[in-house]
Amino acid sequence: MIPVSIAARTDGRAQEAVAIPIGAGMKRLPDRLRDLDRAAGGVLSRAVSLGDLGGKPGSVAVLYPPASSPVRRILAVGVGKDSPVPARTVRDAVAAAAARADSLGARSLALVGWDEALGPAVEGRGGAEALGRAVGDGLGTGVYRFDRYRTRDGEEERRGRLARALVESRGGGAALKSAIAEGGAVADARSWARDVSNEPANRLTPTRFADEARKLARGGRGLRCTVLGPAEIRRLGMGAFWGVAQGSDEPPRLIVLEYRGGPGRPLGLVGKGITFDSGGISLKDPPDMHKMKMDMAGAAGVLAATRAAADLRLRLPVVAVVPATENMPGGRAQRPGDVVRTLSGKTVEVQNTDAEGRLVLADGLAYTERKFRPRSLVDMATLTGAMQIALGRHAIGVLGTDDRLVARLRDAGESVGERVWPLPLWDDYKNHVRSDVADLRNIGHPREAGTIIGGIFLRQFVKATPWAHLDIASTAWTEEARGATGVGVRLLVEWLRREARS
Ligand code: BES
Ligand code: MN
Ligand code: ZN
Repeated sequence: MIPVSIAARTDGRAQEAVAIPIGAGMKRLPDRLRDLDRAAGGVLSRAVSLGDLGGKPGSVAVLYPPASSPVRRILAVGVGKDSPVPARTVRDAVAAAAARADSLGARSLALVGWDEALGPAVEGRGGAEALGRAVGDGLGTGVYRFDRYRTRDGEEERRGRLARALVESRGGGAALKSAIAEGGAVADARSWARDVSNEPANRLTPTRFADEARKLARGGRGLRCTVLGPAEIRRLGMGAFWGVAQGSDEPPRLIVLEYRGGPGRPLGLVGKGITFDSGGISLKDPPDMHKMKMDMAGAAGVLAATRAAADLRLRLPVVAVVPATENMPGGRAQRPGDVVRTLSGKTVEVQNTDAEGRLVLADGLAYTERKFRPRSLVDMATLTGAMQIALGRHAIGVLGTDDRLVARLRDAGESVGERVWPLPLWDDYKNHVRSDVADLRNIGHPREAGTIIGGIFLRQFVKATPWAHLDIASTAWTEEARGATGVGVRLLVEWLRREARS
């Protein structure tokens, strides 16, 4: 986490970069930025009066004050037309500033004028909270890179990395400080999720994934991690999970991460943990197969959210369960047409071995319901390519048996900018997963309602608990993020935060 100090006033001269918010259509410099402008030899007011700073959200213009100025560089960051600026926009703008400062090699960054951008409310406690979370999350997000396998060239070697920040704020000292730490905790959880998702499958095997989860529990956060191996998975009767795992030389793991932040029945989270999805015998096409190293992004997200719940000391119990395995072809792999017996007792005909996520989740959901009697169950998974067609990169699909749970997930997602959009679970679709030889088959009709069928299938494995399924197949990986996005972490943390309050 980047250390952040707070100052009532600064002109940024002690920092290697200063970031300021620029609203769309800004005609004159806000009073708050006058000191900075003066110290910077008027470069700011000049740029504003020329109308060069468009204020487009996420845009960053770098201004260089004259050599006589003690201010090194100003990052003018667009925050759009809304006034006050929504907290989410501030967060993303701070992230853009931090990313630019970091890539320029600036080791320190001052944030000037951001409390004002958020509006007068920021003077109060709620404002300090909004500003702090946005700053903490934005900074952590901005400096994220997955570069551990890149050898540095001389130029990169010479440049520093952003290592500290200063935020100018008039009010809210203690509240602001703890909110910055909260935002930082969410960002760190997201970075963890992105790291394990980006990690190639030869490095992140199910065993190593379980080791990473165990490390979370060793962090003094009050988390407990339990890991089961192949023998226990088979002994318990998780035939669907085992059927997927049997084709791989890497042994599967059932990872359980518990956080007891409060009494009573826990909130159950289940994540799809396929560390590599080749499709199995129903082998995938080559072009995008490398991306299937992130087919455990749902698992990463639920573990990261549980970690954040602990870091934020949310007053509620959470249990995250992850069936982790590879999906590989090979002499021992399951075949299309194989029948497996799930933990629930229902049998499944595996007509397509590439529809493996629902198989491991079927047992993961049944296990979680049986063992922990959760008050609600939410699973998250990169389940269906059809999500790309249905909603594209802009939304997580949600399907569930409990309208209130679905509504609360949607509200939480909306507030943090991770949109969640519903699809139906009508009984009409149930026929699609009928099998002639078993209770169910694991696919529906070709190219018909793929995401819904995934949900319809999973539903068969939850008995009475309010349940919702989040399909993140179209959002877990983007070109823009150059890999894993960590989607779902902010959503789940915000949802848990709200659940803890009510
Ligand atoms: N992991 C994939 C889904 C996926 C595809 C995630 C693209 C992210 C990007 C999943 O296991 C899968 O292969 N689903 C199949 C299901 C089908 C065989 C019913 C799919 O969507 O094609
Ligand atoms: Mn698959
Ligand atoms: Zn998959």
